[in-house]
Amino acid sequence: MMLVVQLLKGAAKHAGSRPQCSVERLFTAARGISSSSRQSSASGRSQCSACTDTDLPKVLITGGLGQLGVGLAKMLRRRIGKNNVILSDIRKPPNHVYHNGPFIFSDILDYKNLREIVVNNNISWLVHYSAVLSAVGENNVALAKEVNITGLHNILDIATEHGLRVFVPSTIGAFGPSSPRDPTPELCVQRPRTIYGVSKVHAELMGEYYHHRYGLDFRCLRYPGIISADSQPGGGTTDYAVQIFHAAVKTGQFECNLRGDTRLPMMYIDDCLRATLEFLEAPAETLINRTYNINAMSFTPHDLTQEIQKFLPDLKVTYNVDPVRQAIADGWPMALEDSAARRDWGWKHEYDLPELVQTMVTHITMGNQVAQAY
Ligand SMILES: NC(=O)c1ccc[n+]([C@@H]2O[C@H](COP(=O)([O-])OP(=O)(O)OC[C@H]3O[C@@H](n4cnc5c(N)ncnc54)[C@H](O)[C@@H]3O)[C@@H](O)[C@H]2O)c1
Repeated sequence: MMLVVQLLKGAAKHAGSRPQCSVERLFTAARGISSSSRQSSASGRSQCSACTDTDLPKVLITGGLGQLGVGLAKMLRRRIGKNNVILSDIRKPPNHVYHNGPFIFSDILDYKNLREIVVNNNISWLVHYSAVLSAVGENNVALAKEVNITGLHNILDIATEHGLRVFVPSTIGAFGPSSPRDPTPELCVQRPRTIYGVSKVHAELMGEYYHHRYGLDFRCLRYPGIISADSQPGGGTTDYAVQIFHAAVKTGQFECNLRGDTRLPMMYIDDCLRATLEFLEAPAETLINRTYNINAMSFTPHDLTQEIQKFLPDLKVTYNVDPVRQAIADGWPMALEDSAARRDWGWKHEYDLPELVQTMVTHITMGNQVAQAY
């Protein structure tokens, strides 16, 4: 109980220094739309008041039931209305997702079905989140090739055919051991050694090619490892940085599968989703590049443990290194150089390591207490 009070005090102090929540900030900070052209309601919905419903984009999110899709749909729905954002995946959604807005089955490998969805729903923006992530991909190269490469071809062809704006995330995994690692510039040698990384370099290059060749409005951000409290990671190399929080709150013990000194770039989910929306909304003429690095913080398992122990001093971390994940992490950037994103469309992260840890511990502790009360 003491911990919760301490965390809530911290959160209140934090809120005082930051007058708006991240979603509100998105609405007022989004470029190209002045604050006077927006309206807010008690429900938190904020939408361009000058826009009619027909001006608003109609968005399809593929692979929407992974770590990032549900959160992005929530932010987008507040921005442009519930029915203008369709989540899709090949899995059955949990009830709360099903009841929170439109959801449909969509397999990105089924070209005809994907095209039908785009046409029947008058889709104008496509957020392509379906993927097989790094650690899972190394265990199933054939599946990773199919989903990450063939699937991407379907997305780019359909987006081009129907004049869509398409967002495809890339990753720190698109770099490799021969890339400069600290920091990794936007343009440098990219020779990744995972099928995941190879497929993401392919996505960056194909998207940029379609942009130059056919005028496709292709947009790509290289995400760091993303940390979230209420959605689970999908088999990437940075998963430990989410799992450690749940273990710290529930059992006080965590076995880490990376070495304690493995420094990787990371980002809190709110920053990642806000970056995605700001980038999607940026006027095309401001985008000098079509693929941008975005950076927030870098830390090792050792740094993260020490920061969590400020709230949960009993946390014990042991190390049982997974050679596959460690080899992947050893070839990845330690930090990304992201000055182009900051210059061209105003990217600015808000969460550093102390804020991230306080927010994560608060969310997970509160979530557990609510769950225990039922
Ligand atoms: N989460 C991160 O830390 C991170 C970091 C860098 C980049 N990214 C990228 O962001 C995107 C979203 O990441 P995530 O963490 O939510 O991924 P995730 O692995 O959690 O979710 C991916 C989703 O894709 C779906 N999927 C798989 N095959 C499909 C198919 N054939 N058709 C339709 N859907 C299919 C899965 O069911 C799953 O729900 C991915 O492209 C990923 O590469 C994520």
